[in-house]
Amino acid sequence: MLRVKIQHKYHLTCTQCGYETPNFWTWFDQNQQCPQCGSKHSEVWYNRRYQRLPRIIKRKPDSFWHYFPFLPLLRRRHIISRGEGAVPVERWTFLQEYAKKNHGLDINVHVYRNDLNGGTGTFKDPAASMAASLFNELGIKQYCIASTGNSATAYAKYLSMAGVNCSVFMPEDAIRSSEATISSFGQQVFRVMGDYAKAKEIAAGYAGYYHIPMSTGNIDPIRVEAKKTMVFEWLRQMDQFPDVYIQAVSGGTGPIAIDKGIREISHVYPELKNPRFLLVQTDQCDPMVQAWEKSEAEGFPEGFEKEYPVIDNPQTEVPTLATGNPATYPIIARLVKKSGGTFLRMREEKLVPVGKLMAYEQKVIPGPASAVAMAGFFIALRKNLIKNGETVLINLGEGPNRAPAYLEQMIYTTHNVSNVDECAPHSIDDYRAQLWKDVLD
Ligand SMILES: Cc1ncc(COP(=O)(O)O)c(C=O)c1O
Ligand SMILES: [Zn+2]
Repeated sequence: MLRVKIQHKYHLTCTQCGYETPNFWTWFDQNQQCPQCGSKHSEVWYNRRYQRLPRIIKRKPDSFWHYFPFLPLLRRRHIISRGEGAVPVERWTFLQEYAKKNHGLDINVHVYRNDLNGGTGTFKDPAASMAASLFNELGIKQYCIASTGNSATAYAKYLSMAGVNCSVFMPEDAIRSSEATISSFGQQVFRVMGDYAKAKEIAAGYAGYYHIPMSTGNIDPIRVEAKKTMVFEWLRQMDQFPDVYIQAVSGGTGPIAIDKGIREISHVYPELKNPRFLLVQTDQCDPMVQAWEKSEAEGFPEGFEKEYPVIDNPQTEVPTLATGNPATYPIIARLVKKSGGTFLRMREEKLVPVGKLMAYEQKVIPGPASAVAMAGFFIALRKNLIKNGETVLINLGEGPNRAPAYLEQMIYTTHNVSNVDECAPHSIDDYRAQLWKDVLD
């Protein structure tokens, strides 16, 4: 813990009224909001020389803490890390070949392997590492979070490493293995009888009653600062910055953080602009897609982003993405519009076929939310949303360890036998045609 509160590394600026909060001690004293206008959306800005960023980007990182000069922590000794945020961007040629053969497109297709993060193997790890390190520095000992699963798992782990008590509020349908993971670290789980919106409501009540800080969600500056380093990593690893970015969306920290990262370094990288955001939801929980389609049909009238439906108790195979009340839609929709992107809907019946195909062609088994993003790629091609020569980046957010029941649905080569006569060698290639057909039909 650090007691020096006067520092010149960073400050927070309210995105609504411009009010400046000098540091995170004050930010938490202010109940994580702007004292002038009440907005919870502030951004961190640094008094730093960005001219050295290109040199830092050239060196290979061990974690996103490689970008320490541009993160809101004052002392490196407070860092709690498990090698998160230094994951590879891979080129997946089977997707390029598919685009060439079936759509006549020469494109570069890359996949950002967040499933390889060192903490819990999801794209929530950098944010949780940032939070744990910051709380270590600030002396925060109690925290709470409402989450559909992956954020909670990551926070539970990293906060335990920092000796911070974390109360987790999960919706009724959250995956049991997430609950088990959180519980196994000794963190407290409240399973709320209701959906994610209800879990947030109870968590907020608890936070108020006990005066315990609570994660402010997708606009939380702690999360955004960690995740913006994606932009630095893509600059480091890719010859060409992505033209198109595909992600499964729930609340949308990804696009918010990418946009912030790009604005932050625009004076050093003036040519950099947001990729077209193609954000994917499933047909069982698609409030953002519904809102977008409606305003698209109406020609995006003034204030279109303020209108969105609320889905109560969404019944989905991907509870990780079950944000039925997308409070961040106004921010995300504006970003998507400005980027020239769109929202896409995938059918949940394709979750397993897509997962099987990825595992077969690339030997990477996705979690369900990753299959949602991957399905978005095929939909984007079918809708002509990707142009010849472009570079596409698909953000894979999780591996299969979060969702054992999903993985089990990928069994398809098993024969039950009790005699050698019933066994014969096979040829892997024989499965290919059917696996592709199951995805594309
Ligand atoms: C693997 C994975 N992909 C995508 C998302 C959606 O992220 P966001 O809430 O930032 O939209 C999540 C969120 O939990 C996730 O865990
Ligand atoms: Zn303000």
